[in-house]
Amino acid sequence: MRKVVCPGSFDPVTNGHLDIIGRAAALFDEVTVAVLINKNKASLFTVAERMDMLVEVTAQWPNVRIDSFYGLLVDFCRERDIPAIVKGLRAVSDFDYELQMAQMNHRLAGVETLFVPTSATYSYLSSSLVKEVATHGGDVSSLVPDLVVARLHDRLTSVDGS
Ligand code: PNS
Repeated sequence: MRKVVCPGSFDPVTNGHLDIIGRAAALFDEVTVAVLINKNKASLFTVAERMDMLVEVTAQWPNVRIDSFYGLLVDFCRERDIPAIVKGLRAVSDFDYELQMAQMNHRLAGVETLFVPTSATYSYLSSSLVKEVATHGGDVSSLVPDLVVARLHDRLTSVDGS
């Protein structure tokens, strides 16, 4: 069975993430979307909330499963016998750091990284920008799934008390 992992923070999942996950699902038998548990980084949604959203918006692909991990990605891969990581590349600016991580992950555990060019429609898209736009009342409905639009609305209106 050809297995691959799509790791990330997914705070929250965007249409750009779904583009990469869906394309990975077409190429591999099993795609594990792995949400990083990062205790040092403030997030808008909890890991459980991010995983819930991912479960719902990836339901169309039966070979996609959602999981979380803490610590090194290569340890997660080793424990589950996953030989490769799929990453979306939006622009040249992503490349330097992604290349460093790919080389380190290969050095640490022989885990390969496959880069998929993000569709041009989503090349500017990031979870951080989505949160910033949504925080200030901008329309993100074409950038994230409907479910995420609703969760963003709920979270941001409860955060600012309005
Ligand atoms: O969505 P993000 O925040 O850009 O995802 C980054 C992520 C989770 C893929 C990356 O930070 C990661 O793999 N972290 C796990 C810790 C780890 O393995 N570090 C060594 C990388 S060489």
